[in-house]
Amino acid sequence: MTISLNVAAPNLGALDTPLLVVALPSAPAIGNDLAPLDGLLGGALTRAVSRRDFRGARDETLHLAGGDRGVQRVLLVGLGPAGDRTSALRRAGALAGRRANGMGVGSLTFYAGAVSAEEVEAIGVGLVAGAWDFKELKSPAPVDEQRAPLDSATILSADAASRDVGVRGARAIGEGHSLARRLGMLPGNVCTPDYLAETARDIARRHGMKITVLGRGEMEAEKMGSFLCVAQGTTQDPKLIALEYRKGPADAKTVALVGKGLCFDSGGISIKPAQGMEWMKFDMCGAAGVLGAMEAIARLELPVNVVGLIGSTTNMPSGEAVKPGDVVQASNGKYIEIINTDAEGRLVLADVLAYAKRFGPDAVIDAATLTGACVIALGHTATGVLGNDDALVQEVLDAGKRSGEPGWPLPLWDDYKELIKSDVADIKNSGGRPAGTITAALFLKEFAEGYSWVHLDVAGTAYTESDLGTIPRGPTGVPVGTFVEFVRGRSR
Ligand code: BES
Ligand code: MN
Ligand code: ZN
Repeated sequence: MTISLNVAAPNLGALDTPLLVVALPSAPAIGNDLAPLDGLLGGALTRAVSRRDFRGARDETLHLAGGDRGVQRVLLVGLGPAGDRTSALRRAGALAGRRANGMGVGSLTFYAGAVSAEEVEAIGVGLVAGAWDFKELKSPAPVDEQRAPLDSATILSADAASRDVGVRGARAIGEGHSLARRLGMLPGNVCTPDYLAETARDIARRHGMKITVLGRGEMEAEKMGSFLCVAQGTTQDPKLIALEYRKGPADAKTVALVGKGLCFDSGGISIKPAQGMEWMKFDMCGAAGVLGAMEAIARLELPVNVVGLIGSTTNMPSGEAVKPGDVVQASNGKYIEIINTDAEGRLVLADVLAYAKRFGPDAVIDAATLTGACVIALGHTATGVLGNDDALVQEVLDAGKRSGEPGWPLPLWDDYKELIKSDVADIKNSGGRPAGTITAALFLKEFAEGYSWVHLDVAGTAYTESDLGTIPRGPTGVPVGTFVEFVRGRSR
């Protein structure tokens, strides 16, 4: 569920809210703006600060009881030392949203002093992310244990223009994040390639986009031997989905967003160990990111041309499955030797990247939970960023930073190509453990021909196996923010 976001002018003395969240920086001062609230609380704010019960550290919270009516509870949330205030506010929003969802207050009001449009948006995105949860597949709790979920939040801001712009952005991006996270959380027996195609159709219908879906037959006609060899072990129909959003000037170039959509990755014949294999339902988070971004871009009505492309299937062992040693031919003619059937994401993306060329894109960005090596290199903090155009890499890194989804570059040097040379074919699909993220990207580069391209390895960032405080175990919404921010940057 996504909470509804509202905005209002601050009037702290006359608020009626079950929960007022007040975001404060390190070593906070209770200024004139907070004096009426402090008065209502009998000086509790001043005392909390002077006794150092609350210091404003990042992620610090203090819960104060309010009255029967008016401000009924107060939650102080720390922003930490001065620095990137937008990021700190997004994080505070998420923490507040999550706490409020657990408290059962139903709605909250968020105050952080004077805030710009960008900051209103960040708070809103944070609130939606923090309040997000996934209850669809749980029976309802016993009545006496039920808590009202947080379903609406109001952000206070004095400036009407920044309120409107900010909340609109937050609603759009929040909706995109929630859509992507829901798809990520859905199990592999529900979220199938068919299901992703239906979700894309729904987005297309609601926003007037053109949609094309290729199944096994159509992909055979396109000679997509690389993608299809991954789908060989499953009876589910693989899908290549193309969503076209065209709100840019007719002569404007197109941005293509590409996502890996493995609804489950067992490894295939090179089967993965049983321990933790269930996490591989998240192997479609790149695709979910594309759908979430398309939803947000449409809601923002950005004046751009964007094509969303998804390669979706399930990687399964079977008597018919592709096996190590097999050689397949991709739609661009290149022969690939299969070394490890678990290196399937690059095989799917190879044909999708080749397909992207027909849209005449001036930038292509793919997102994929591509390598375990990326999790080892960058953990769950940064997305791996590699590409064939340094300026585009920088543009994507900047977009990631602005959206609170930091990326970090890795070198895509030809020196590493030696690792994926094949004795029998043009290239092999695995270079083994050394530089695993780089060799995977070098493989993709062979199919991203004729345009500027950046690859995002979101294996560590699209979902988290441990609670992050602001976000529980599961999908994070990455790379929706990066995609939207990139496209928005191009629309200005
Ligand atoms: N989907 C996995 C990558 C992955 C691993 C994502 C862990 C998230 C967490 C991918 O298809 C894969 O299995 N990659 C292999 C490549 C190897 C066989 C060259 C890997 O990373 O081990
Ligand atoms: Mn795999
Ligand atoms: Zn995979």
